[in-house]
Amino acid sequence: MWDERYSTDDYLYGTEPNDFLREHAALIGEPPRDVLCLADGEGRNGVYLAGLGHRVTSVDASAVGLKKAARLAEEKGVALTTLHADLTEHEFAAESVDAVVSIFCHVPAAGRPHLHRQVIQALRPGGVLILEAYTPAQVPRDTGGPDTPDRTPTAAELDAAYAELAIELSRECERLVVEGRGHTGPGCVVQFIARKR
Ligand SMILES: C[S@@+](CC[C@H](N)C(=O)[O-])C[C@H]1O[C@@H](n2cnc3c(N)ncnc32)[C@H](O)[C@@H]1O
Repeated sequence: MWDERYSTDDYLYGTEPNDFLREHAALIGEPPRDVLCLADGEGRNGVYLAGLGHRVTSVDASAVGLKKAARLAEEKGVALTTLHADLTEHEFAAESVDAVVSIFCHVPAAGRPHLHRQVIQALRPGGVLILEAYTPAQVPRDTGGPDTPDRTPTAAELDAAYAELAIELSRECERLVVEGRGHTGPGCVVQFIARKR
């Protein structure tokens, strides 16, 4: 499905980073830091962070998306590592990164407990998780996001899954999300930031 969606010359969500990430990227710390960009698709967020000087690995299940991410990195003159993996199964090395960035990573509910555990495992002490995703309230809207609530987390789910981290921000809100052809207007999102103790 995603390979097909990404099989166009343009970038579905544009080439500019997500606003919430841009606003909070400084929390990752002075570059270079090791950063995992989950479900990074065509790479706009990973390439942005690499441009700040971080060592970024973009993970996605779409080979077509990752190829475009690599092309975007090359065009911008930055280094980007790509990893083709299913996040509902993949295991990350323990304490291997300083930040995990998860922007509109919408995997099925059944796979999310595994993913949440992997995020906690991958972070080094002091490492930060920066996450924005659509909530179930977005599903009936036509401005982007999954067409089933099963793929949308809530703040309550994240609060519970990451209770052992220091949660710095956890809120559901509506904001204008305009990102390429894929995200085209007001959206109901959860914004979440937590740091490993
Ligand atoms: C809405 S797009 C967001 C892409 C990117 N984060 C952005 O904001 O531009 C969702 C991405 O999740 C990826 N994805 C969906 N299920 C996945 C899974 N189980 N493992 C890895 N990636 C997955 C898709 O391939 C797609 O690139």
